[in-house]
Amino acid sequence: MISQKGGAGKSTLAIHLAVAAYLDGHRCAVVDLDPQATARKWGDKREADGPEVIGDHAERLPHLVDAARANGADLLVIDTAPNADRASLAAARAADLILIPCRPASFDLEAIEATRDLASIAKKPAWVVLSAAPIRSAIVDEARRGLESSGAKVAPQTIHHRVAYSYAVIDGRSASEYEPDGKAAEEIASLFQWASGQVGLPTGGRHGRKAGT
Ligand SMILES: Nc1ncnc2c1ncn2[C@@H]1O[C@H](COP(=O)(O)OP(=O)(O)OP(=O)(O)O)[C@@H](O)[C@H]1O
Ligand SMILES: [Mg+2]
Repeated sequence: MISQKGGAGKSTLAIHLAVAAYLDGHRCAVVDLDPQATARKWGDKREADGPEVIGDHAERLPHLVDAARANGADLLVIDTAPNADRASLAAARAADLILIPCRPASFDLEAIEATRDLASIAKKPAWVVLSAAPIRSAIVDEARRGLESSGAKVAPQTIHHRVAYSYAVIDGRSASEYEPDGKAAEEIASLFQWASGQVGLPTGGRHGRKAGT
């Protein structure tokens, strides 16, 4: 998750996608590179036995990726600080897929260029994920069209502004656990399914866990 804009939804998406992988039976960890430690603090409150949350420095990413692979991990989700700096570039280089959460609002849309540049330096596929989008507003389609006409790829699933995303994380859960039949859970399942397809991660695994277990 990379975006130089603060509050775009990086940590929210990192946590939610990691839990989606965990619920699907994968061995998954979140690597939190942000000194704000949002994902780590969430991990401290979490009672379930996964996903693991690791706080570390960007320079150690290649080592972490090797160690995770050696330990049989299926997926690492990297959460970054709101920067387009060396740490974000290191994250881009370590990643198979870069997701750029972006609110459909003009200041946010203008700010994604630096992140897209970083992805092209790292030569990694990057997709904008429209996040915290207002429900039933023309601005979402406008943002998607504007991004696509500027050459950006936009993930098919928009993440809307829903209280479940912010409530669920208070006690270390995700919206899929807090409200398994809710709209937020549905959006995350769909985004996870699509993102898994992008990186060749099989989904719908035999070992899927039930939310709340
Ligand atoms: N889809 C959403 N619906 C409702 N609230 C959201 C949504 N996405 C993010 N938020 C809220 O917006 C705030 C910022 O989100 P988040 O911390 O995920 O952004 P971030 O990009 O990680 O920020 P930073 O750049 O500071 O690391 C949080 O309070 C979060 O709960
Ligand atoms: Mg964050």
